[in-house]
Amino acid sequence: MRTVRKMRAVADEVFKDALNLRHLDLACKAGMTEWNQFSARGKTMASLFFEPSTRTRLSFEAAMKRLGGSVITANDESSSLMKGESIADTLKTASFFADLLVVRSSEPESSWGEPDVPIINAGDGGNSHPSQALLDAFTIWCHKGTLSPLTVGIVGDLKHSRTIKSLVEYLSVGATDFIAFDSTGQGNELSEASMGFAQRCHTRNDISEFLKLSGQIDVLYMNRVQCERHEVGIPNQSGSTFVLDRNMLRNFKEDCLILNPGPRKEEMPFLEDNRIKMWEQVESGFYIRMALLRHIFGK
Ligand code: NCD
Repeated sequence: MRTVRKMRAVADEVFKDALNLRHLDLACKAGMTEWNQFSARGKTMASLFFEPSTRTRLSFEAAMKRLGGSVITANDESSSLMKGESIADTLKTASFFADLLVVRSSEPESSWGEPDVPIINAGDGGNSHPSQALLDAFTIWCHKGTLSPLTVGIVGDLKHSRTIKSLVEYLSVGATDFIAFDSTGQGNELSEASMGFAQRCHTRNDISEFLKLSGQIDVLYMNRVQCERHEVGIPNQSGSTFVLDRNMLRNFKEDCLILNPGPRKEEMPFLEDNRIKMWEQVESGFYIRMALLRHIFGK
């Protein structure tokens, strides 16, 4: 479960299960039935987030608990990483106490070692975020009924954004075209180098060129600038040269799906347009992660 490829391989099963879990959850909330899915009973998940997280961490932990499992945690401040232990040794240590590790680290996944329990990559630096790609693809599939052929507009920090890289990798197997705009203002060369792995990706240098194509876009994937990964970046400072406004939105198709993996910043100042499904992505994250856990622990 560490790579986008593995996530894609289980997607059919996970998508169907996520839909069932959503139905069951809604029925429970309406008081029509009782929750009866406890596939993680007796299992422990170690939630190891060594970089900030809100939705990924909460959704994995909530999913595990909802399935009857338990969660143990360690983070930067409380773990021996602070004392200079390698990430591989930290993860190996955690594997003695858990049946599954969910890990977010600034270190590339290739340095995580091979502990004897499954690991889900919940983000490794600016490299990849496979379970986010799975839930983004699920949201697209729910609305478009397919993942291909589609034209996907990508806006964000093409070099540093792991969500962009993972979604593009996820969708690249199909007949999907990407139109990308790097919103850091660092130019096209950077964009093309960063997106070089996506064969059908066309980068646009300036906003007007990108917007000229907006009428072709089926899914617009908006992302923040990753200030914390810039050498001279200050976290939380504004940085996006692309700010979605209502005038721009008029040029997009009526059924264009607009996504943002969050946290949203200045690139998307409002959510009041029924094409924007950011909260639905958050909600889907819970069901997708529950379905992923059920895939790992068995139903
Ligand atoms: C993303 C991440 O951590 O890469 N957030 C998330 O997990 N939903 C996106 C980001 O931080 O920009």
